[in-house]
Amino acid sequence: MKDIENKEDVKLLVDLFYEKAMKDELLGPIFDHAIKDMSAHLPKIYSFWGTLLIGEMSYHGSPFGVHRNAGLDKRHFDRWVKLFSDTVDENFEGPVAVSAKNFAKTNGYIFESKLKMLEGSRKDI
Ligand code: HEM
Repeated sequence: MKDIENKEDVKLLVDLFYEKAMKDELLGPIFDHAIKDMSAHLPKIYSFWGTLLIGEMSYHGSPFGVHRNAGLDKRHFDRWVKLFSDTVDENFEGPVAVSAKNFAKTNGYIFESKLKMLEGSRKDI
């Protein structure tokens, strides 16, 4: 197995991850409902991971905001991290593959804690 090395690898990783996520009983319906146009969504995700993993420097968005008020909690992020890591393991190996998994884990955790914090502060108002 090879490492994640170029744009084609990133695209393959993202496509295979979405294939898994769309079939998942927990995440599938959320993606299905929230993403109106997959062909507009996927290029953003290729660009996001391309920037993180192969230095593409093409993503300038701020992904956290779009996940607010989507009813996501720890279960969703844990599943997201698991499916993403499984997709990496099934297709790639090497240092970049390891950082992809580490990044997913850390960011899944950060997203979840930030959402929890914001939820907490809303309740306090
Ligand atoms: C709990 C699981 C998650 C679900 C159900 C989810 C779902 C979504 C949805 C519905 C969108 C907006 C789609 C659109 O209209 O374009 C989105 C955007 C995005 N998500 Fe997630 N997401 C999850 C976790 C994550 C995590 C952990 C990351 C990063 C590590 C991430 C990265 C992104 C990025 C980069 C975008 C594009 C933001 C932009 O518009 O620039 N997602 N996600």
